Amino acid sequence: MNITLRQLKVFETVARHQSFTRAAEALYLSQPAVSMQIKQMERIIGLPLFEQVGKRITLTEAGREMYRYSRAIAAQLAEAKQVMEELKGMEQGHLIVTVASTVNYFAARLLAAFCRRYTQVRVSLDVTNREGLLAQLDVNETDIVLMGKPPERSDVIAEPFMSNPLVIIAPAEHHLVQRSQVPIAQLQRERFLMREQGSGTRSAIERFFANRGIRLSGSMEMSSNEAIKQGVEAGLGLGIVSIHTVELELEAGRLAILDAQCFPIRRRWYVVHRRGKRLPMVARAFRDFVLSEAERFVRTPNVFPR
Ligand code: PGA
Repeated sequence: MNITLRQLKVFETVARHQSFTRAAEALYLSQPAVSMQIKQMERIIGLPLFEQVGKRITLTEAGREMYRYSRAIAAQLAEAKQVMEELKGMEQGHLIVTVASTVNYFAARLLAAFCRRYTQVRVSLDVTNREGLLAQLDVNETDIVLMGKPPERSDVIAEPFMSNPLVIIAPAEHHLVQRSQVPIAQLQRERFLMREQGSGTRSAIERFFANRGIRLSGSMEMSSNEAIKQGVEAGLGLGIVSIHTVELELEAGRLAILDAQCFPIRRRWYVVHRRGKRLPMVARAFRDFVLSEAERFVRTPNVFPR
């Protein structure tokens, strides 16, 4: 059927007004021009669309069917226009993301995948520890935050998107590496390299041991996951880190994961934003992307049970 969108629009207007004259006014056309479009349509279809009843025109059965389709097509076109407008907004959008320093190990992969889809999006990425993230949320300086433990307050929305197991890392030749189910009480005798105050990883570890009545002694403080990994590899002590930070070292055999009781510490990653904040389109798209696709781009090695 070679009906044009223009003809459909004219038809829909005539059908809605049940009048050629009023449709012509609404469309800023002459009445003969409107009649001609309808005649052409009827010729293409091979059926009359309107019939004259006294002074009024009414739709024939074919006309009623066509009216139903023309309204559906108009609605679809309006929806398509809206989606295109939104995509335009997306393409020119600026995404402001803040991630926990531990998330930084996979944030780039997520952003790269997102930017392959929306090639014009500008991205600002800030990397900081848990305390820094909370401060940014407080002053509304960021749109989306990826973090380990959402703040317990009602003015943020936090949605989990991926598991975040914390594992004990040791140098490959450490005496506990070959043991299975090392009792946690035995860990008390080991020296641990701990993250700085303010780190989410650190507070999760402290909570974990405090809940079991265990005090780790002789720990050493380091201000990044990198420093902890280097320190563990060099034999300074053991570390407890997110498995997402040690993918390469495990593959290269430079670090090993201890099989200890109650480990890994099971945590999750969250995508967080301020409640009530009108998120820019691009930020909403990123949130949806993280929730539905993060696991496709970030591998979580399954080391338990071995
Ligand atoms: P962080 O990571 O330890 O780098 O602050 C956040 C978290 O795991 O909660």
